[in-house]
Amino acid sequence: MFNMRFVSQDWVVSCALILLVSCTTYSSASLGKPENNIKTSVFKSPKIELGPGLVSNKFYFDVDFPRGHIALKSFNAELVDESEKSVPLQETYLHHWLIIKYHQPKNVTHNNQTDIVFVRNSGFCQDGTLIQYFGLGSETRGTATDIPDPFGIEVGNPSEIPYGYDEKWLINVHAIDTRGVEDRLGCIECRCDLYNITKDADGNPLSPDYKGGLDCCPDNTTCRLNKGFKGPKRTLYLKYTVKWFSWDNYVVPLKIYILDVTDVLNVSKGGTPKHNCEKKSIFKTIAIGEKLSSTSKGKIIFERRPTSAEK
Ligand SMILES: *[C@@H]1O[C@H](CO)[C@@H](O)[C@H](O)[C@H]1NC(C)=O
Ligand SMILES: *[C@@H]1O[C@H](CO)[C@@H](O)[C@H](O)[C@H]1NC(C)=O
Ligand SMILES: *[C@@H]1O[C@H](CO)[C@@H](O)[C@H](O)[C@H]1NC(C)=O
Ligand SMILES: *[C@@H]1O[C@H](CO)[C@@H](O)[C@H](O)[C@H]1NC(C)=O
Ligand SMILES: *[C@@H]1O[C@H](CO)[C@@H](O)[C@H](O)[C@H]1NC(C)=O
Repeated sequence: MFNMRFVSQDWVVSCALILLVSCTTYSSASLGKPENNIKTSVFKSPKIELGPGLVSNKFYFDVDFPRGHIALKSFNAELVDESEKSVPLQETYLHHWLIIKYHQPKNVTHNNQTDIVFVRNSGFCQDGTLIQYFGLGSETRGTATDIPDPFGIEVGNPSEIPYGYDEKWLINVHAIDTRGVEDRLGCIECRCDLYNITKDADGNPLSPDYKGGLDCCPDNTTCRLNKGFKGPKRTLYLKYTVKWFSWDNYVVPLKIYILDVTDVLNVSKGGTPKHNCEKKSIFKTIAIGEKLSSTSKGKIIFERRPTSAEK
């Protein structure tokens, strides 16, 4: 089975910061007026089937996305039902959603995941952590993603897609249906006892200190329901709205940097420095249900690229 660790075990506390950085200098004289050509595409993920207490945490490969060499201007997503109405958080908790770019060899059968290559954002984390382009959870609903002119996030640049590969996108949605559950807050905090989970995805016993987290609410598990509660199954979708326009030379390309406040640079003798993202050990263990307010600081050094005048 595909094992991806895109998300922090404690997403809620280890919230990543999304930063957009322009990667070229530009002269204001050359700016165009691209807003006239902005297109809006609305797509839906494959259907997400839930029932009272059920968890869905699935990866949908090769989802719809505007094709070609384009500039992204915004990306917004929400959970909707079959009539396209937004689903109240009280009924379905959207733990997180992520959209991830990847390259797939052309010579494989449709949607075969062998030899695909994930294309991370420009942030400093490494390996499989925080590789998404966009992604949010319930706590960050309504966050604006609009990018002002003359900037745009460049995707689909043919010169950046390796020969023999296609650029594709995958979406991961983790949602918890909390209708009829005994302890709503406990369910959305993924408390292990409510899910009756004692082992991780690899079948290893969880540490007795691990009281809750993503390991305890994997795909297809059920949170404890009120005795005798019965409710209908429901079908939901992640509806996502992408604003974009065809690439042109007036766009100033932006890069996405997803940074992690727990990131520690590990400089070992002789080795190349390695970013250790999602080191949740810096957080104090919080009791289930305890309200947490904490501030962490991290220092990240960006290298300034020389401008063409300095080269
Ligand atoms: C696809 O092409 C690559 C590179 O030429 C090759 O290594 C791989 O085995 C091919 N896969 C299939 C399914 O033909
Ligand atoms: C995917 O491709 C690999 C190599 O080409 C092959 O061995 C495997 O059976 C394919 N898997 C599926 C689900 O088609
Ligand atoms: C909890 O899991 C154990 C072992 O997997 C099982 O024996 C037990 O019936 C489960 N309890 C509930 C309420 O599902
Ligand atoms: C969850 O159930 C669906 C439908 O039975 C199945 O396709 C999927 O593989 C299951 N997920 C996991 C992680 O086992
Ligand atoms: C830092 O890297 C070294 C060498 O790869 C490794 O042995 C060590 O465990 C790492 N330290 C931390 C805190 O991850």
